[in-house]
Amino acid sequence: MKMKVLIADKFPEQYIQRLKDAEIEVIYNPKLGENDLPEAAKEVDCLVVRSTVVNAVTIESSKTLNLIVRAGAGVNNIDIKAANKKGVYVSNCPGKNSIAVAELAIGMMIALDRRIPHNVADFKAGKWNKGEYSKAEGLFGKTLAIVGYGAIGKEVAKRAQALGMNIYAKDISRIEGYGVKDFSEFDQILPIADIVTLHLPATSQTKGLFNDAMFKLMKPGAILINTSRQDVIDEEALIKAVKEKNLKVGLDVFKGEPEEKSGPVSSKLQELDNVYVTHHIGASTEQAQNAVAEETVNIILQYINSGVIAHWVNRAKITDAHYQFVVKHYDKPGVLASILDVLREGSINVEEVENIIFDGGLVACCTMKLRSAATSEMLEIIRNNPNVITYSHVGLDEG
Ligand code: 3PG
Repeated sequence: MKMKVLIADKFPEQYIQRLKDAEIEVIYNPKLGENDLPEAAKEVDCLVVRSTVVNAVTIESSKTLNLIVRAGAGVNNIDIKAANKKGVYVSNCPGKNSIAVAELAIGMMIALDRRIPHNVADFKAGKWNKGEYSKAEGLFGKTLAIVGYGAIGKEVAKRAQALGMNIYAKDISRIEGYGVKDFSEFDQILPIADIVTLHLPATSQTKGLFNDAMFKLMKPGAILINTSRQDVIDEEALIKAVKEKNLKVGLDVFKGEPEEKSGPVSSKLQELDNVYVTHHIGASTEQAQNAVAEETVNIILQYINSGVIAHWVNRAKITDAHYQFVVKHYDKPGVLASILDVLREGSINVEEVENIIFDGGLVACCTMKLRSAATSEMLEIIRNNPNVITYSHVGLDEG
C-alpha cells in the first residue's frame, strides 16, 4: 500500500513531485488550518506543516499518523506531548532557513536605523523629508548582542562582522569563534548594547524572557529585533519600554499573529511609530524554502527506506535508565528472549537496547540500559546460560 503524506502548508512543486516519484501518495492542501487538520490528517501516515498548528485533537484522532515533519526549525506549533503519548515521531529541518532569518534580522537593523519604511511611506504620500531622515546613526562600530547563538545567531554574527559591529553573543554553552565575545550576564551587556537581536526557541525557559526587568537594563534608544518567537517577549513590557525608553523595534513575530496566510490583522503594536512588524516572513525566501523542502523530502524518504528518523525532536534525551547491562552472547534464536525473560521475572524495565553482531555472525553484543538493578540471583541465571559468553552490569549514576 502507498504511503500517504499530507502537506498542509505552502511547499514547492518540484519537491512534491520528488515524493510522488517515490510512489508516495501526496495530498497537497496549503489552505488547511489548525481546525481542519483533525479531519484531513485522519488517514495519513505523514503530515508536513510549516506554521500550521498541529494540536492534540489532530494527533489523537488519526489512526495512522506516524510522522510529523515541521518544514522549518521551530516545533512549538506541534503538540509534542500528544505526539509522545501516541509514539508519533516529530522531525524538523534545523539550520535550513537560518540564512534567510539572519538576512531579515540584518535588514531590520538597517531599516530601523535609516527608517526606510517611513522614508518610503512619506515618498508615496508625496512628502519629501530629507532633513528628518538624515538623522540615522549608522551601524559601523555599534555593539550588537546576539541572544541565542544557534544556527541563526551564527549567521547573524557573520553578517554583522562584515558591517564592522562589535559583537557579543549568549547561548547555553560558551561562545567561541568568529571574533564574537561571550557575555555571561544580561546586566553586563544590555546597558551597553546598541542593538539586541533575539534568536531563541520558544521553551519554558525563554517564555517572557524579555520582561520589564530586562527592558530596564537596555540602553535608551537601542534597537531590539525579534525574528524568533513572540513568546520570548512580554508584549506589555515591550510597549511600555518603547514609549518610555524610545526603543526602536523590529519584529517578525508578535502576539495574536493570524494563522491564515492572508486577511486582516490587528495589534497594539500598530499604534507605535518606532515598531516595524513584518509578516512572519523570516524563513520565506525561495532559497530557504527549497532547502527546507529538500530536507523534508530527505526525512520522509529516509524514514521509508531505512526506518531511521532524521532530526527526531521528540526522542528522549535522558531516559530513566540507571544501570547498563552488556551481554556478549552466541547469536542464536531465543538467546536474547531468555535473558529478557529473566529481567521480566524481576519486573525490570529495559529503557534502551542495542544488539550488535560481530563479523562472521556467530557472536553478538547486546547493551541494555535498565531502569533498576538486576539482582545477583538474576545474574547467576544469566551467567549459567550456555549461550552467554560474558556480561557486565554497572550503575550509570555512580561517579
Ligand atoms: C521556523 O521555525 O522555521 C520559522 O518560524 C518559519 O516559519 P514558516 O515556515 O511558517 O515561515
